[in-house]
Parts: sequence; C-alpha cells; structure tokens
Amino acid sequence: MHDLKTPIAIIETGINSLINNDNKQEQLSPRQQKILARLLRSIKNAKGLVNDILEVGRSSEGIINNKWCLLCELLVPPIAEIIDLTDYSAGERIKACEDMDSLIKELSKKGIMLNMDRRLWRREVFLDPRKINQIVRNLMSNAIKFRKNTIEIHVDIRKTKDQGENLFIAVKDDGEGIEKIYHRKIFENYFQIEDDREDCVRGHGLGLAGILILIEDMGGKMYLESGEGKGAKFSVTLPLGLCSIS
Ligand SMILES: Nc1ncnc2c1ncn2[C@@H]1O[C@H](COP(=O)(O)OP(=O)(O)OP(=O)(O)O)[C@@H](O)[C@H]1O
Ligand SMILES: [Mg+2]
Repeated sequence: MHDLKTPIAIIETGINSLINNDNKQEQLSPRQQKILARLLRSIKNAKGLVNDILEVGRSSEGIINNKWCLLCELLVPPIAEIIDLTDYSAGERIKACEDMDSLIKELSKKGIMLNMDRRLWRREVFLDPRKINQIVRNLMSNAIKFRKNTIEIHVDIRKTKDQGENLFIAVKDDGEGIEKIYHRKIFENYFQIEDDREDCVRGHGLGLAGILILIEDMGGKMYLESGEGKGAKFSVTLPLGLCSIS
C-alpha cells in the first residue's frame, strides 16, 4: 500500500501542473479542463483511500500521534476536503474560513448546519490529527452520499462521570436511514447495503470499519441512531487528556 503513495503523488503533481498551466503554453479547452478536474478528483480519492488504509494499519500497531491542536484546525480541513471533491471553489472557501461565523455561513450554502459552542472554536485538545481527519471525512462523505437535503454536524466537549472530558462529534443526515438489521453489519469491512440509486458513486465498504478501529484505538466509542426513512446519525466520543505513551 505504501508503494502506491509515490505514483499517486507524481500523477497529482502532473495534473495540478497542467490545470495551473505552469509553463504558460497554449490555453486548455473547457473540455480538457473538465477532464483534468475529474482526474484530479479521482486521484485525490485514491490518495485518501491509501492514506486511510495505512492509518488503520498504523493504529492497529498501537501508533497514536497525539498533538496539541485547536479544534478548528482539526475540524475544518476534513470538511473542506469532502466538499472539495464535488465543489472545488466551495472547498477552497471553507478551507480559508478563519472564524466560526464564516464557516457556518459557507457550510449553510451547502446545506450543512454546524452546531458548536463558539468558545470551542479555539479550544486546544490533545488528539491525533490524522485520525480525527479520517473520522470526520468518512462520516461526512457518507452523509453527503446518503442525505436528501441537509446534514447537521454537532461538536461538543462533555464531562464524563469520572470528571474527565470527551470530545463529542455527531454527523446526522436526512436520508433514507439504515434498517436496524444492518446496524452492526455496516461496521464490517466491505459491507454495503444494496443500493439501487443510479446516480450513486459506490465506495468500498471500508470507511466505517476503518474509523471504528481508529476510534476504539483512541479509547473512544461510536454510536448509530437510525431507522428506515429517518436519516442516520453517527456519534463519536473520544476521551481527551490521554497523553501519548513514550
Ligand atoms: N449515512 C448513511 N445513510 C445510509 N446508509 C449509510 C450511511 N452511512 C453508511 N451507510 C451504509 O453503510 C455502508 C458502509 O459504509 P462505509 O462508509 O463503511 O462504506 P462506503 O461508504 O460504502 O465505502 P467507503 O467508505 O469505503 O468509500 C454503506 O455502503 C451504506 O450502505
Ligand atoms: Mg463511506
């Protein structure tokens, strides 16, 4: 898997250089621009998949790279990355958001509601940024894939019974939801519920299984609330204040 990183990076650099017309040669036609944009999206997807699989492997080896980060630094990049896959300019605007009000505004244009106390925006937490990125990206990509119109993201820091703290992240969509009989199955590798929508881009059935491993390795938990026709809400709790073992 690691060997795929170099060819992917070379292809991505090449496509970017063509899109940006680096050596100022003749202009690209709209058709060429469209094809290159599609290639860039696919290669970014492939890069995400390879990195996610490598991260699950690292996690299973007990590797957790916690760092002190601001919550906004953990949450904005993965949300922007997911939006960027379908709307490059919105992705760029979201990435550039420097405060919560501008993020709320940009997200609402995409039918996404963010519910988070403003005091948490610059709250420092000690967590593994790659793992948080993967968790948020996967939940968001599912919600975008399965929603009818809207998505709600809820972020909070909650006290635990033993006076510790948990980071709480929930992603809720208004799609068809998930029947009870599948509530365990969807966390297994390669499992996907039969889907007859024609416009739907099939994934690999690896996202939830992967992030469940990351969440459990970080000492956290994931919950699913959903019923047929009622949308789906995936919630994650991650204990804060766990120091890295050195
Ligand atoms: N928000 C959701 N609403 C309805 N069904 C969902 C939702 N999230 C996941 N599922 C179901 O669970 C299955 C497994 O999800 P998972 O994220 O593991 O894989 P995937 O999205 O199909 O592919 P991948 O994440 O590997 O690209 C999905 O194929 C879908 O059937
Ligand atoms: Mg997925």
